[in-house]
Amino acid sequence: MPQKKILVTSALPYANGAIHLGHLVEYIQTDIWVRFQKMRGEEVHYVCADDTHGTPIMLRAEKEGLTPEQLIARVYEEHTRDFAGFHVAFDNYYTTNSPETQALANDIYLKLAAAGLVEVRSVEQFYDPVKEMFLPDRFIKGECPKCGAKDQYGDSCEVCGSAYTPTDLINPYSVVSGAKPVRRSSDHYFFRLSDTRCQEFLKRWTRSGTLQPEAANKLDEWFHQGLADWDISRDAPYFGFEIPNAPGKYFYVWLDAPIGYLGSFKNLAARKGLDFDAWTKAPVDGDDGIEMVHFIGKDILYFHALFWPAELEMAGYRTPSKVFAHGFLTVNGEKMSKSRGTFITAESYLKLGLNPEWLRYYYAAKLGPTMEDIDLNLDDFVARVNADLVGKFVNIASRTAGFVVKRFGGRLVGVDHPMLAEVRGAATGIAALYEEREYGKAIREIMRLTDLANQYVDQQKPWDLARQGGAEARLHEVASIAVNLFRLLALYLKPVLPQLAADVEGFLGVAPLAWSDAARLLPEGHAINTYRHLMTRVEPKQIEALVAANRESLHPAPAAPAPAHSQQRHAEAKVHAEEKHAKPAAEAPATQAPTISIDEFGKIELRVARIAKAEHVEGAEKLLKLTLDLGGETRTVFAGIKSAYDPAALEGRLTVMVANLAPRKMKFGLSEGMVLAASGDQGPGIFLVAPDSGAQPGMRVK
Ligand code: 2FM
Ligand code: ZN
Repeated sequence: MPQKKILVTSALPYANGAIHLGHLVEYIQTDIWVRFQKMRGEEVHYVCADDTHGTPIMLRAEKEGLTPEQLIARVYEEHTRDFAGFHVAFDNYYTTNSPETQALANDIYLKLAAAGLVEVRSVEQFYDPVKEMFLPDRFIKGECPKCGAKDQYGDSCEVCGSAYTPTDLINPYSVVSGAKPVRRSSDHYFFRLSDTRCQEFLKRWTRSGTLQPEAANKLDEWFHQGLADWDISRDAPYFGFEIPNAPGKYFYVWLDAPIGYLGSFKNLAARKGLDFDAWTKAPVDGDDGIEMVHFIGKDILYFHALFWPAELEMAGYRTPSKVFAHGFLTVNGEKMSKSRGTFITAESYLKLGLNPEWLRYYYAAKLGPTMEDIDLNLDDFVARVNADLVGKFVNIASRTAGFVVKRFGGRLVGVDHPMLAEVRGAATGIAALYEEREYGKAIREIMRLTDLANQYVDQQKPWDLARQGGAEARLHEVASIAVNLFRLLALYLKPVLPQLAADVEGFLGVAPLAWSDAARLLPEGHAINTYRHLMTRVEPKQIEALVAANRESLHPAPAAPAPAHSQQRHAEAKVHAEEKHAKPAAEAPATQAPTISIDEFGKIELRVARIAKAEHVEGAEKLLKLTLDLGGETRTVFAGIKSAYDPAALEGRLTVMVANLAPRKMKFGLSEGMVLAASGDQGPGIFLVAPDSGAQPGMRVK
């Protein structure tokens, strides 16, 4: 097969905040995919950059007494340090505040304008008469028009949750100067997405297999609602690129952030001697085999699946081959929260000495190809990493390699065994799973093979062979088979655990493992090095320290307005609301329930259930209606978990239910069982019980 040529991107993080574990879902997901492609020998260029422009960055710099350039330079150092710390290996990490991005933004804009796709319209917006600038919605606060809560942002109330426009606020004020904003109009530049050329192109493009099925459905909805023209300008003062032939007007985020992908690649191409135009301009005769793949969060799908491809197509650039959107991160089943200490920064994780590959492994085990949210359950994190990586994977080498070194001078004997054939044969299937971003399934398959390898060692008992006289040859063979199994498993895990794999390569004395190495075994006489422990266990204490380090006091200094995009917005918006309501969480005392016999416990039929559907119940304050799939059989259960869960986030999740509870007639219908959830007496919330991955609906829990 010819080598693939793929330009891969992750969304550009804003240069005004720290990288946190929510961001890392995307960078780790992308990095795994890129590393896998590179192990297969494909030509891949993985680029990203800081998204450096906009009002929030300008104002933050001013507040810190810095120029925007100084602020973004500092954040650049922080971001690159954090990404490297998590082994995210960009081929280029750049900045949108670059000559390359500016030249490309100008070129794209001028081509769109020449094609008649730019229009100037007068727009009325809030204006701060003291600061003499237009105000984004997030920089206007006032009283909520619905509940009267004070100090609410211009777009939504964090106390009652209602959404509105800044004009609805009572007594609005500018967050920047405190002045009462006035309405003022000015000319804005619009990209005419509603133009039939854009519409026709997008209809074709969205059906060309570029999008995940659920994203394509979302697009259909948006088409149905009609595509609106897109405001691409902001007025001075603004930190960004001035629009050509439009003094005082600057490109707004969506006309320079995604162009930053190309700017970063252009910078890389110059260094590597790549033909930038061949990679980024529309191919002249159809498919030239070059792919452009974007990994993004589901919140920016609109921009990447409508605005961005239309803009590229209309300006004569290559359009995305794939847009892969992922869901958000929840921690312990809830949105990340500063008051709970679950808004965890990458820096704090690394500073406390936690191994970045623990998190990479855990995310991989949870990730799939859909836009479903993923949950970082901190207890499960400890349990899974310790069980899978330390207890199973590393265990294979730690139990067998010593014999090779001590008894046989580090030399392996040439081996073959049906199990080796099985593990080697799994390479194609595991590759297909990585390719499809089915990382959770890939990890399950690798762990199934790891279990087989451990069973083999358990059965062969090399430690017994070592004590017996005359079993040397057998011991040599068993240990050599185990070392070979370990090598193959390390190879399969390498996209996820690059550092561990590098350590294994060092220990085995082999060159960096490529995917095709799965076809080979270590030859007769190959020398390995002394085994040194490859990974330590996660200690629950480390997680406690991590949460404590990220827990903000309940009365923090007033925060700067949250950025208007990305997961950060969702996470931080929630935080403010929580902080207003939070009560100090008291430790719930351990309960002292009377003991029961195993027979009594056996009467409770606990089963794994998939939440097929979760809905609000009209008129019910605390309940959600769950439709549970028990592997064929369906049950309806009303569960008092509304305060803790958004129904959409529950669909598809596995939980555990009491399946033989007598049905109960409730005001809203018949409840046919009960789902299990943990909660303390006084908070911090309700936590639905979830089985480990691999469990199937209907399985009995004992
Ligand atoms: O949403 C965001 O995080 C923005 N910084 C844009 C990222 S994607 C892109 F197009 F650059
Ligand atoms: Zn309100």
